Amino acid sequence: KNGLQVAIDGPASAGKSTVAKLVAKKFNYIYCDTGAMYRAITLKAIQNGVALDDEKAIAEIVKNSKISFTPDENGQRVFIDGHEITQEIRSEDVTNSVSAVAAIAAVRKQLSGQQQEIAKDGGIVMDGRDIGTAVLPNAEVKIFLVASVEERAKRRYKENIQKGINTPLDELQLEIEARDYKDSHRKISPLTKADDATEIDTTALSIESVVSEIAKVINSKL
Ligand code: C5P
Repeated sequence: KNGLQVAIDGPASAGKSTVAKLVAKKFNYIYCDTGAMYRAITLKAIQNGVALDDEKAIAEIVKNSKISFTPDENGQRVFIDGHEITQEIRSEDVTNSVSAVAAIAAVRKQLSGQQQEIAKDGGIVMDGRDIGTAVLPNAEVKIFLVASVEERAKRRYKENIQKGINTPLDELQLEIEARDYKDSHRKISPLTKADDATEIDTTALSIESVVSEIAKVINSKL
C-alpha cells in the first residue's frame, strides 16, 4: 500500500470536498469525490429523459456508462462516456434529483464497486456518505464532518452566488434538509456516522483548522 485510506463522510454542504481536496494535497494522496459519480448518473438520466423512479432504466444507465476523473488544480474533472460534465453535475436540477438515484440498489452496487477499486492501493482521500460505513469499512482514517444546517445553507448560498445562481437562503436550507433526510433514510447504506469515525463539527471552524484536525488524525495512524 502507498498510504492510508481516508474516508470523509457527512451531510450535504458540511465542507467535505473542500477539506478532502486540501488533505489529499497535503499528503500527496489521490482525491475522489464519490458524490460526483452519483451526480453523473443523475445527469445522464435527466438528459435521457428517464424518470427518476424508473429503477430499471437507471440500472441500465449505470451499467452502460463510463465515469472517469482526471485530477486538476481544483480537485478533479469529471467525465461520463468521454464527455466532460464537471460543471453540469453541480446544477440545482441534479442536486435536487441525486438522492433518488442514489437510493437505487443497482446504482449503489456498481458505483461502490468502482470506488473500492479506485481506493484499493491506499493513498486516497474519498468523500461521500457511506465511505466509512460501506465502501471502505477498513479505512485507517474515518472522519465524519457535520455543521449546523443554517451554516451549511449559508456556505451553499455563497458558492451559488459565485456561480451566478440566486436561490434564496431559506430555500437552500429546505433543499439541504430534504436531501439529508433522503440520504439518511434510504434502505441501502444510508448516511450515518461509522462507530469508529472521528466527528468534527465545522460550524465555527475555519477550513484550515478542519484540515489540520484531520491531518492530526492521519499522522497518528502513519
Ligand atoms: O457529496 P454530494 O453532495 O456531491 O453528493 C450528492 C449526492 O450523492 C448525495 O446527496 C447522496 O444522495 C449521493 N451520495 C451517496 N453516497 C456517496 C456520495 C454521494 O449516496 N458516497
